[in-house]
Amino acid sequence: MIVKENFSLKKFNTFKVEVNARFYAELESAEQILELTSQKEFQKLPVLILGEGSNILFTKNYNGIVVRLISKGIKVVDENAEFVFVNAQAGESWDDLVTYCVDKEYYGIENLSLIPGTVGAAPIQNIGAYGVELKDAFVSLEGYDLDKQRKVCFSNNQCAFGYRNSIFKNALKNKFLIANVTLKLKKEKSFNLNYRAFQEFVQKKKSTEITIKEVSDLVKRIRMSKLPDPSKLGNAGSFFKNPEVDNKKFSELKKYFSDLVFFKVDEHSYKIPAGWLIEKCGFKGKKSGNVGTYNKQALVIVNLGSADGIEIVNFAEQIIQAVHTKFGIKLTPEVNII
Ligand code: FAD
Ligand code: EPU
Repeated sequence: MIVKENFSLKKFNTFKVEVNARFYAELESAEQILELTSQKEFQKLPVLILGEGSNILFTKNYNGIVVRLISKGIKVVDENAEFVFVNAQAGESWDDLVTYCVDKEYYGIENLSLIPGTVGAAPIQNIGAYGVELKDAFVSLEGYDLDKQRKVCFSNNQCAFGYRNSIFKNALKNKFLIANVTLKLKKEKSFNLNYRAFQEFVQKKKSTEITIKEVSDLVKRIRMSKLPDPSKLGNAGSFFKNPEVDNKKFSELKKYFSDLVFFKVDEHSYKIPAGWLIEKCGFKGKKSGNVGTYNKQALVIVNLGSADGIEIVNFAEQIIQAVHTKFGIKLTPEVNII
């Protein structure tokens, strides 16, 4: 275990914001968290578990211990005629896990190709893309309850997964370290190709001829055409969640905005793409100082140079205000603001 003092986190957040952690620890194995947090020097300090920092925005130096888990390993832990159960350590790259499953033709997470970040962070907001969410393949996880200082196992139900949400963003926020995750994947070919952006591809191909590698590559191509590469332009993906509105609000919006883009969630609600709302307020590709929105996707806030967290939050506030004034909808951040 390495512990450093006054450590720069610039390399460990994809917004590329310059902040320091009072202490920074790298753990080779998850159980080292108990040893670390029981040391007298650290007992009273807040703890922040950091993955690749691709869904986090630091607004100030962190006056506590930032912990990164660097444990690696992917293995099949069980299988039957239909399913294979794959366990991955928290420090693994999420996309390496997807690539492993695609190569072995284990079906279920190919639509989640190229999402940045670690396996350990994936349950935190129940990562999702192109009609699939982590919860669809998730079986269980093991981790450490930092208050109770003990190892715990969580089933799918116990994680209380929702849209960009879980128990780890609520009752257990900053109180839990995820050590490893187990997924259940199908051995037989099975795809979710309902997403609009897949239509052209689906129409050109016979469904029996489609391969898992083709689906993964298609997802990667779509993502690269819409989303900025964090190694070139600081960002944390979608800055806000897509808001849900009830039937009454939906009818009002439809009346005033004939080109409204929407997705029906259930009998009572609709999701409106935040990117559309933001674009309609004139913010697509807009720049202000060191911050802006991406010119191909208004929902992504980008660091154009040396913005700090406060400048980014202030820009996000301007967007929240503008969308509220025009549509009466309050956007909420997806990114974890620290
Ligand atoms: P971090 O940003 O380091 O941390 C995120 C949160 O998880 C923090 O609260 C942190 O404390 C906590 N955390 C991290 N690791 C652990 C652990 N082991 N135990 C306990 N808590 C932990 N997200 C999607 O859902 N879908 C997308 O399509 C998507 N596209 C993106 C595209 C781009 C270009 C970028 C930059 C981001 C995108 N994201 C997307 C957001 C991001 O990739 C995910 O949220 C990812 O899971 C974050 O992983 P991370 O390791 O970087 O977590
Ligand atoms: N749109 C606009 N203008 C824009 C952007 C989007 O009008 O600038 C409209 C378009 O009509 C488009 C619709 O919004 O059809 C949806 O856009 P897109 O398909 O790009 O998806 P999104 O709703 O903006 C969500 C997730 C992404 C995920 C994609 C694909 C959220 C907050 N974001 O984005 O996740 O990759 O769908 O499934 O749910 C992330 O969480 O960081 C993330 C990137």
